[in-house]
Amino acid sequence: MPRYAVTGVTGHFGRHVVEELLSRGVPADDVVAVVRTPGKATELVERGVQVREGDYSRPETLPAALVDVQRLLLVSGTEVGQRVAQHTAVIEAAKANGAERIAYTSVLRADTTTNPVAGDHRGTEEALRTSGVPFTVLRNCWYTEVYTAQLSQYLERGEILGAAGTGKVSAAPRADYAAAAATALLDDAAGDVVYELGGPGFSMEELATTVSQVSGTKVVYRDLPSDDYAVALEAAGFDAGAAAFVAAIDTAIASGDLETDSDDLPRLLGRPVTPLADAIRNAMAA
Ligand SMILES: NC(=O)c1ccc[n+]([C@@H]2O[C@H](COP(=O)([O-])OP(=O)(O)OC[C@H]3O[C@@H](n4cnc5c(N)ncnc54)[C@H](OP(=O)(O)O)[C@@H]3O)[C@@H](O)[C@H]2O)c1
Repeated sequence: MPRYAVTGVTGHFGRHVVEELLSRGVPADDVVAVVRTPGKATELVERGVQVREGDYSRPETLPAALVDVQRLLLVSGTEVGQRVAQHTAVIEAAKANGAERIAYTSVLRADTTTNPVAGDHRGTEEALRTSGVPFTVLRNCWYTEVYTAQLSQYLERGEILGAAGTGKVSAAPRADYAAAAATALLDDAAGDVVYELGGPGFSMEELATTVSQVSGTKVVYRDLPSDDYAVALEAAGFDAGAAAFVAAIDTAIASGDLETDSDDLPRLLGRPVTPLADAIRNAMAA
């Protein structure tokens, strides 16, 4: 049986993937959790998972972290702008250790999208291609949690503000993408594979309607021109750069760049994607 490594396990996504691997019968000893801060993963050590230190920004930590790993899931990091160099260091260390497959969490249509987060993902996909190691690219659309994390604000204000127009987002819960990632990692695929992953698309107006239905509190969507939305974000405390970035994401949504009709996600899951209403209900219960 191959040995699997997952990075970012102290974060939400990586942790879900490790739980999926264990629940599907992969022996704990064959699961390597690569973490920047091992102290955050003591519970996994107690369960027999191999926890190894690996910091994307300290390449010297990576070769030992990836010894004897055949299949790696590289979970994209959080430091936007630094990630191509960071991820390339992980890919090189995996390759030097003889990895047979590297899976990577990218973004929907990374090669063509106007989504402003895509640059680092494009660069990492290029590094994967250059490495020559067989790869699986998991091009995840938005997590539903991007929206459900703001539920209390939506309910408090009675509105969702944005500049996404009637554009739809094929979001899905993080746990669905993670379950799909585990399936892709366990799959004895040959060659390079690219998945476009997302759930049924919803517009911001449909999001507001679903929040209203599930919560019983009326929430409406108010669409603004992109520049006005950036100004509103600044007024709410965003710095100018972050406000422009978030407004640019909505412009990408308005142009359809966060919508997909691909069925890759339900196919990998072997079931329909968790409906938006259920995700909102779960978030309200949490
Ligand atoms: N599709 C979407 O909607 C969406 C939304 C948000 C993020 N993302 C991307 O998806 C990734 C996973 O999502 P998530 O929800 O699990 O994020 P998260 O909870 O913030 O977890 C990020 C993980 O990356 C690790 N990490 C960051 N920098 C690192 C470094 N230099 N070396 C080693 N590990 C590092 C963190 O380690 P520490 O615990 O040590 O900080 C953490 O384990 C994110 O990192 C981001 O790239 C996607």
